[in-house]
Amino acid sequence: MKNILVTGGLGFIGSETVIALLEKGYQPIIVDDLYNAKLAVLDRIETITHVRPKFYEVDVTDQAKTEKIFQENQIDAVIHFAGYKAVGESVYKPIEYYRNNLDSALVIVDLMRKYGVKNLIFSSSATVYGVPERVPLVETDPVSEATNPYGETKVMIERILKDVYKADPTLNIALLRYFNPIGAHPSGLLGEDPNGIPNNLLPYVSQVAIGKLKCLKVFGNDYPTPDGTGVRDFIHVVDLAEGHVATLKKLEQNPGLVIYNLGTGKGTTVLELVHAFEEANHVKIPYVIAPRREGDVAVNYANCDKAYRELGWKARFTIADACRDAYHFQKMNPNGIQ
Ligand code: UFG
Repeated sequence: MKNILVTGGLGFIGSETVIALLEKGYQPIIVDDLYNAKLAVLDRIETITHVRPKFYEVDVTDQAKTEKIFQENQIDAVIHFAGYKAVGESVYKPIEYYRNNLDSALVIVDLMRKYGVKNLIFSSSATVYGVPERVPLVETDPVSEATNPYGETKVMIERILKDVYKADPTLNIALLRYFNPIGAHPSGLLGEDPNGIPNNLLPYVSQVAIGKLKCLKVFGNDYPTPDGTGVRDFIHVVDLAEGHVATLKKLEQNPGLVIYNLGTGKGTTVLELVHAFEEANHVKIPYVIAPRREGDVAVNYANCDKAYRELGWKARFTIADACRDAYHFQKMNPNGIQ
């Protein structure tokens, strides 16, 4: 396997994965419509790796334009990241979320069939477990109704891919369920670059740290957790990217349809993360306790033994590493990637 089509390859996780692929000798072909990413990310990938990957500015819901990419390239595998991903926004834009996320997945599998591409990695999410009955979550735990349309698109696409696999068992499909990706490339050149006020915890904390935002709101301190704040499985984005490369290696062994949790296996509370950030970066993060955020679960973390057993992959960076890298990126890019 050599040529890897990476949809959403200029996004937060996509761009990091492109770098991991280049480091391991793969040839990524990036497709991104720049809806939630900047072209400058391509320059930064080039600065880091000294390679400028082939890039198509295409929306993968556009089947005709996407087909041209399949015609022009001999693709060995697809990593499908492209999709809308804002939980809150999906609640008031359900039509856009279902249309965009489902259409793009369908275009990809339809073109894979037409062009005989057998290998696919899909960006799924821990959100498919809904409200966990128990933690740590294992891959065989029930996939239940998600708490928002964004999550529901992940549940639905997983189901679609299982049916696609049933119809053609010569395919190799990996469903990767990500937990909470944080951190940034250690160079400070790539990282999470949200539009407007960040929804996710670490980008918010980083913007408080540089004085762009005043004060963090901690959503709830009355959960049944050690300090009352929510528990998540925060994983460094570079670890997550390397998980994709490990999965590609697995797909080379023709495993059929496989599912892996990608996390650290460790739960960290919101306040523990805030304090780790303060310690790693020698800054103070002012915060207030605010009411719980609707749709949040108390505790969510992964059992990642299966990924270790079958992929030989496990997270190697610490929360402190991720906090340091996120702050470095934020300081180098106070107004995002330009
Ligand atoms: N939080 C705060 N204040 C903030 C932002 C977040 O206290 O300003 C808390 C949340 O309440 C939660 C924790 O920090 O307890 C993590 O929140 P994030 O928004 O960073 O992440 P989520 O766990 O809500 O969601 C993430 C991804 C989703 C994915 C989900 C899967 O953003 O895409 O994990 O579990 F679906």
